[in-house]
Amino acid sequence: MSGTSSHAPHHPPYGPPPLTAPGAAGTPRRPELPPYYEDRSPGRGALPPRAWYAGSDAARLPLHGSWRFRLSVTATAEDDSFARPDFDDSRWQDLWVPGHWVLKGHGTPAYTDTAYPFPVDPPRVPDENPTGDHRHRFDLPEGWGEGPAVLHFGGVESCARVWLNGQELGHFKGSRLPHEFAVGHLLRPRGNVLAVRVHQWSSGSYLEDQDQWWLPGIFRSVSVHRRPEGSVTDHFVHAGFDHTTGLGTLRVDCAPAGRVTVPALGLDLATGEGASVPVLPWTAETPRLYDAELATPGERIPLRIGFRTVRVEDGLLKVNGRRILLRGVNRHEFHPRDGRTVGREVMRRDLLLMKRHNINAVRTSHYPPHPAFLDLCDELGLWVIDECDLETHGFGQQDWRGNPVDDARWEPALLDRARRMVERDKNHPAIVLWSLGNECGTGRGLSAMAAWIRERDPSRPLHYEGDRSCADTDVYSRMYADHAEVARIGRRAEDPLPDPELDARRRRLPFLLCEYAHAMGNGPGGLSEYQRLFETYERCQGGFVWEWIDHGLRQLTPDGEVYHAYGGDFGEELHDGNFVCDGLVFPDRTPSPGLAEFKKVVEPVRIEGDGVAGTVRITNLHDFADLGHLAFRWVYEVAGEVRGTGSLAVPALAPGESAGLRLPAPPAAPGGAEALWTVRAVLAEDTAWAGAGHEVAWGQLPAAARPVRTPPAATAVPRRGEGNVILLGPGTFDATTGTLGYLDGVLLRGPRLEVWRAPTDNDEAAPRQPGRSPAAEWRRLGLHRMRHRVDAVETLADALVVRTRVAAAGAEPALRTVYRWTARRELLRLEVSVEPEGDWPAPLPRLGVRMAVCGSVGHAEWFGGGPGEGYPDTLAAARVGRWSMPVDAMQTPYVRPQENGARPGVRWAQLSRTDGSGIRIEGDPDFYLTARRWPVEELDAARHTTDLSPGELVWLHLDHAQHGIGSQSCGPGVLPRYRLEVAPARFAFTFSSLR
Ligand code: GAL
Repeated sequence: MSGTSSHAPHHPPYGPPPLTAPGAAGTPRRPELPPYYEDRSPGRGALPPRAWYAGSDAARLPLHGSWRFRLSVTATAEDDSFARPDFDDSRWQDLWVPGHWVLKGHGTPAYTDTAYPFPVDPPRVPDENPTGDHRHRFDLPEGWGEGPAVLHFGGVESCARVWLNGQELGHFKGSRLPHEFAVGHLLRPRGNVLAVRVHQWSSGSYLEDQDQWWLPGIFRSVSVHRRPEGSVTDHFVHAGFDHTTGLGTLRVDCAPAGRVTVPALGLDLATGEGASVPVLPWTAETPRLYDAELATPGERIPLRIGFRTVRVEDGLLKVNGRRILLRGVNRHEFHPRDGRTVGREVMRRDLLLMKRHNINAVRTSHYPPHPAFLDLCDELGLWVIDECDLETHGFGQQDWRGNPVDDARWEPALLDRARRMVERDKNHPAIVLWSLGNECGTGRGLSAMAAWIRERDPSRPLHYEGDRSCADTDVYSRMYADHAEVARIGRRAEDPLPDPELDARRRRLPFLLCEYAHAMGNGPGGLSEYQRLFETYERCQGGFVWEWIDHGLRQLTPDGEVYHAYGGDFGEELHDGNFVCDGLVFPDRTPSPGLAEFKKVVEPVRIEGDGVAGTVRITNLHDFADLGHLAFRWVYEVAGEVRGTGSLAVPALAPGESAGLRLPAPPAAPGGAEALWTVRAVLAEDTAWAGAGHEVAWGQLPAAARPVRTPPAATAVPRRGEGNVILLGPGTFDATTGTLGYLDGVLLRGPRLEVWRAPTDNDEAAPRQPGRSPAAEWRRLGLHRMRHRVDAVETLADALVVRTRVAAAGAEPALRTVYRWTARRELLRLEVSVEPEGDWPAPLPRLGVRMAVCGSVGHAEWFGGGPGEGYPDTLAAARVGRWSMPVDAMQTPYVRPQENGARPGVRWAQLSRTDGSGIRIEGDPDFYLTARRWPVEELDAARHTTDLSPGELVWLHLDHAQHGIGSQSCGPGVLPRYRLEVAPARFAFTFSSLR
């Protein structure tokens, strides 16, 4: 660390770089010397990295705004005379900085997952290398003064060469890392001209093969910082917490030396001097920060100090002496209009949403985020894995031949990246692990990075997933391991490594899933089962859902309708489609159902019990906080109607404790209806991230045994009506097909068997698992084009029976389906029985009936699971109640349209017009209700949300069963218990009309 007398500064003060002025001749290529954007070096001329801080009393001048811009198709199309202050840029265009030029109408974005969008020939890049020349003229504010200053770039993709007032400062790579240049000697009060040439492709692109859009540009802020004589060159806050004594330890190293004051702790220390005082520790649940000030002869910096100690001990990852459980997400920086230019408000919004959904950890996949994000993590309380800007995944496609991380010539670039991350971010209490990068295979470059980081900051363990041997890491991390494997790892019984020593070492390490539960489209399924493993095995310390947000880019149709674009929508020759849309929130940051599910699954309080016996058990699953910050409330409902509410006195249980409590006497008798207790834990007071009353956890307990459903006795007799119809009770049927056409005057397209659903991304399972796609198998079997042959329409004494065989063209297996209709007064009952015939090699997508009603019947109300969608392995968040919403609101707008919107566990549903007329459906047993204004075929064919337009009908699916969702778009498929295996089935619905 740079520091006081005992800690020598590790870089020189801000001197002028020894570089050249622009020449008229451009940059002719000399074959023996690669141009700077194609050499392996991290760059030249930049200052050593230092800790970032939001502000100080040294002036800063942000340079955001409208710059002048010219785009060339190659790196050498234009010479560098544009860097001269007097260059005439009047024919250039305006461009807002920070931003990505491809999102501002210059060129187009491109998406690939792992493939490099250019020939793999490191470190060379293609001739087609979009190059943006930028110019910006600025004056210094009044009173800026003279003396040292630095020019700061927060992030530029992928390589920049920089001039100020005609003097070249240098060039750099490392897109999501800061770079600074000494400029004090060049600045003038007025008329400074900053010139920046940015190449989309550089040798650095080989190190930045993250699964995301390729978005060139100066995408983070650019600013000039005054560095007065005696200002802080660098500082390192060491703040630990000893849980055995309750003492915090503090030492702030700084160059040059100065003093640190922490008023709340009565501390006034020299830098480099240590102190031990009683403190409240920092944790993600209790993010206590102490305001402090660092003062050197030339500068005062406000600090926010969090005391905490991270250790790997006893095979566990511990903070302040306790095992932590990571309820995490992977977060890319993304905004649907601005790409990776993400403002502070958006960052805060992400974090508030996370906190409100019980998320306590973020992996900054796969690069250090904007530093303001880390300030917010300190403030709001999140465990952070800070990951280096490094991924070489595309080399995997060639067996890792030529992988830069195993090539000594790339080592300076790798070390530069490690340094820039650690130096910039080292003072954040929120960061508990450093990550070397993502998906780079293995190699000595990673070991070199690890060795440097360990030396520089021994206080944080290291993470990297790509090396199964864990030689360079302190935690065992994996992505997408299935439940069974996680259980084996939990028992420390995983398959051994070939090297017994490494194996023994790894077996002692804590385990986390740096990625799991791929949230692409509908899903992820199987979250509850993972959570159970994390709670069962102490070694399994949770994980990070892949990922936080869908990277869909906002576009307009010619009619001005908004949709979100994904790979291929910009004509890329190589792309990975909608694999870029796999988040828990939609591109506009609306929570998707997956987020609601995750919130429920990871809730830090468990509420369970026996409502019939009147008892409830509350368990505190926090790692640090007691339950004093929560209030508990109950609601008692009969048939979905509230009959009583109250609060429950719950002791301030310590983490891990649980208590059994008595519920009050039921406020009303069930009277043969379904009665339920709902107990909710809500914030007792406002917090920094949500207001008092915000719900953190809930549980529902039946208050009485569920009443048995007795089918209405059949009393009506089927008879022929006028025309080719059969009348039965309120139903009018087509006599040839046996299809219901009217229910008491409401026009219908009668229910008939349906097994198809518009495959979800998890059903498709593409693109990483070709050949293992359930949807491909379903299509092969023809489940999307089943034919219905009517074998008999029989009118019996009290029933109409329609016998059918449902099968696909070209296929032998069939579903013999019998519809048995009976009626009693205004009630019409349908019993469906399904007998499979032949060999069925795959489970079914769904099993139920589909029907259509007039589109005016546009409002749904139901008693069952809600308010959002739920499928067999995604229904933890479905709460039983009476829900009501327009059919249009029941749709989940997945970026690529697919099966969505099923409400699980529905006892009854009503679909009505504005005047209250419509139909009512009761299930026997409960069913999944889906209602939408387009048929499944249109949903299946749509590529974007705007491909769907409401038709004249509302299509209803009443499903007896659905196949689970799983996470196979990148991970394990549906767990066996959630597969919809083909088997004989019987289910019934009772229809009536609403008047
Ligand atoms: C992982 C990778 C992520 C993302 C994910 C799939 O292998 O680390 O960046 O590509 O798969 O969405």
